[in-house]
Amino acid sequence: MDRHKVKRQRLDRICEGIRPPIVNGPMPARPLVALLDGRDCTVEMPILKDVATVAFCDAQSTQEIHEKVLNEAVGALMYHTITLSRQDLEKFKALRVIVRIGSGYDNVDIKSAAELGIAVCNIPSSSVEETADSTLCHILNLYRRVTWLHQAMREGNRASSVEQIREVAGGAVRIRGETLGIIGLGRVGQAVALRAKSFGFNVIFYDPYLPDGVERSLGLQRVGTLQDLLMHSDCITLHCSLNEHNHHLINDFTIKQMRQGCFLVNTARGGLVDEKALAQALKEGRIRGTALDVHESEPFSFAQGPLKDAPNVICTPHTAWYSEQASIESREDAAKEIRRAITGHIPDALRNCVNKEYLLLAAQWSGIDPATVHPELNGAAAYRLLIGHESTLPHD
Ligand SMILES: NC(=O)c1ccc[n+]([C@@H]2O[C@H](COP(=O)([O-])OP(=O)(O)OC[C@H]3O[C@@H](n4cnc5c(N)ncnc54)[C@H](O)[C@@H]3O)[C@@H](O)[C@H]2O)c1
Repeated sequence: MDRHKVKRQRLDRICEGIRPPIVNGPMPARPLVALLDGRDCTVEMPILKDVATVAFCDAQSTQEIHEKVLNEAVGALMYHTITLSRQDLEKFKALRVIVRIGSGYDNVDIKSAAELGIAVCNIPSSSVEETADSTLCHILNLYRRVTWLHQAMREGNRASSVEQIREVAGGAVRIRGETLGIIGLGRVGQAVALRAKSFGFNVIFYDPYLPDGVERSLGLQRVGTLQDLLMHSDCITLHCSLNEHNHHLINDFTIKQMRQGCFLVNTARGGLVDEKALAQALKEGRIRGTALDVHESEPFSFAQGPLKDAPNVICTPHTAWYSEQASIESREDAAKEIRRAITGHIPDALRNCVNKEYLLLAAQWSGIDPATVHPELNGAAAYRLLIGHESTLPHD
C-alpha cells in the first residue's frame, strides 16, 4: 500500500474518536467562512462565492457567535474589535484559517491557534500610507495646534491683534530642527520617517529587531536603547507591534526618561501606553501634549478612564487606518487569502501566515510531515487533528 494511503488511513482512524465529522475528511464541498466582527460582506462575497458560503456574525465576543459557525466555519475573517484567546479558539471545531483584515494581530493568540492547527494571516500592506498620514496629522497638530485653535474659534475667540494671536496660538513650535523619535521602524514607522524628514524633522529610531543597515538605506539615525531614544526626542511616536514583551512600554519610569515637555503620539496599539502614568505626566507638564488614535480600552470615551481630566489630549477613535480605498483593498486581500486556504495547501499556499513557524513546529511535534499529508486533507486538517493526540496513534 502506498505511503500516503497508509498515513491517510491512520489519520482517519485517529479522527474518528477525536473530532466531529466535519474536520475528519477533506474540506467540505462548500465550506463555511464567517466574518466574525462585522456585517458587510459585499466585497468578500464575489471573491469567495464559488468556493465557500459566507456568513457574518457581527459579534464582539465568541459568546455572541452562532453555534453553527463555531461548529462548521472553516475560515474566519476578523477586524480588531474581537479578541480570540485560546479559550475562544477552542470553541471553533472546524476552523483552519483566520485572516485579520488589517496588519495588527495582537488580538489573536497565534501560538495557541497553531497548536490547534489554525493558520493565522494578516494583511500587512493594509493602510500603511493612511496610518502614516494620520500619524503626521497628529504630529503636525501638536506642533501647529490646529485642533486647539479650531476649538478656540468655536468658543468665540476672535484673535485679531498680534497679542491675541500670541495668546491663542501660544505653544506653537517650529518643526525644522526638532527631533522625532520613532519606536518601531516597520512598515508604518518607515513611512512616517520618510514623511517627517520632508517637514524638517531630524528623525531617530529605536527597533532592536531590525538588522543593521536599515538606517543607511533610509538615511536615519539609529539609537541602541529605548532610553537613548526617550532622552533625545522632542516628539515620540509609537509604531511597534504590541506583543508579550512591550505592554506599557510607555510608563511612569520611561516617561521620566523623556525630555521635559515632549510630545507623545500613539497610532500603534493602546496597550503600549500606561494611560494613568500619561495622564499624570500631562497634568504635571512633563509631557506637553499627546495625540492618541488607540487606547487601552476601546471604544474610547473621553468621559471614562484616566485621561478624562488630563490637559492637551487629542484623540481619534482607532481610525488612523481608514480610507475607503484601504478598507476595500484589505477586504479583497483578506478574501483572496481565505480563497488560497480553501483551494490550496495550508500553510504553504498562504501569502501572509503569521504563525507558520509555530504551525510547522506543532506539526513536527505531532510526528506528521506536513508535506506528506494527503492533499485532500489540506494540511491544516492534519495539524489540527493530531496535535496533542500523538499517543492515540494506533500501532500498525
Ligand atoms: N491605528 C491604526 O489604525 C493602525 C493601522 C495600522 C497599523 N497599526 C499598528 O501600528 C503598528 C505598526 O504596524 P506595522 O504594519 O508597521 O507593523 P510592522 O510589523 O511592520 O512593524 C512593527 C515594528 O515594531 C518593531 N518592534 C516590536 N517590538 C518593539 C519594541 N519593543 N521596541 C521597538 N520596536 C519594536 C518590530 O521589529 C517591527 O519592525 C502595529 O502595532 C499595528 O497594529 C495601527
